Amino acid sequence: MTPSRTTRLPVRRPRDAKGPDRGLFDLWSFVYDAPLVQWLVYRPGHDAVLRALRACGARRILDVGCGTGLLAARVRREIGGEFVVGCDFSRGMLSHAARRRDAALMVQATALRLPFRDASFDAIVSTEAFHWFPDQGAALREFRRVVAPKGRILVSLVNPPAEWLASAASAVSRAVGEPCHWPTRARMRAQVRGAGFRVVGQRFVFRLPLALAFPTFLTEAEAAPELPPRAEAAEGEPRFQGGFLQ
Ligand SMILES: C[S@@+](CC[C@H](N)C(=O)[O-])C[C@H]1O[C@@H](n2cnc3c(N)ncnc32)[C@H](O)[C@@H]1O
Repeated sequence: MTPSRTTRLPVRRPRDAKGPDRGLFDLWSFVYDAPLVQWLVYRPGHDAVLRALRACGARRILDVGCGTGLLAARVRREIGGEFVVGCDFSRGMLSHAARRRDAALMVQATALRLPFRDASFDAIVSTEAFHWFPDQGAALREFRRVVAPKGRILVSLVNPPAEWLASAASAVSRAVGEPCHWPTRARMRAQVRGAGFRVVGQRFVFRLPLALAFPTFLTEAEAAPELPPRAEAAEGEPRFQGGFLQ
């Protein structure tokens, strides 16, 4: 697989699902790689995912909401395997990602409609992105479809300790016009199970500045052994065949 290749695919959003503006992430991409921001906010989640990936031995890995591709590049360097693909809906984030010398293959797409064939990956990782997905159930069903039976998902994000705190945070995000939702750990487990996974564990990830009121957890789950339900490709839409776009 040729690294440093960005493939642009149609980004579709269900009409009823209102998520954050992609432009927010395009702008954010200019400061995203600042070392202090990375060290305080994002690196602890990346480290936790890398530890879990080492333990599960995945060889075909997808990073959904990969941002500027720092984690995907580390997965390539530190885990290796057959291939690593980063997927994000922000062109700005992806253009920064593609400039890396050690970049993974990058694909522009929404988490709600992944342009990959069923069972294409052994592991799907997603760090600090899941709360932005406007339909988290739909995203998890897509994870379930594209991960192989017994494959893993590793999703790290803030899980507030109480429903009222989760609802208050969502209300604030809607009020400022960039809606997101951090589910509690219990709700995260329920959603993951509902999409056809067995929850393996939820590990606390220490990071500043939100460690106590808004703690981060890495939820790890395994896909049930039976084949995922079939999702039909839209007419003319490119699909991922055996690890390569066609
Ligand atoms: C805070 S960044 C996290 C980036 C990276 N995972 C990390 O840990 O450094 C959130 C990312 O999720 C992406 N994102 C948000 N909603 C998305 C969606 N519906 N589909 C795909 N990517 C999305 C954004 O473009 C952004 O790059």
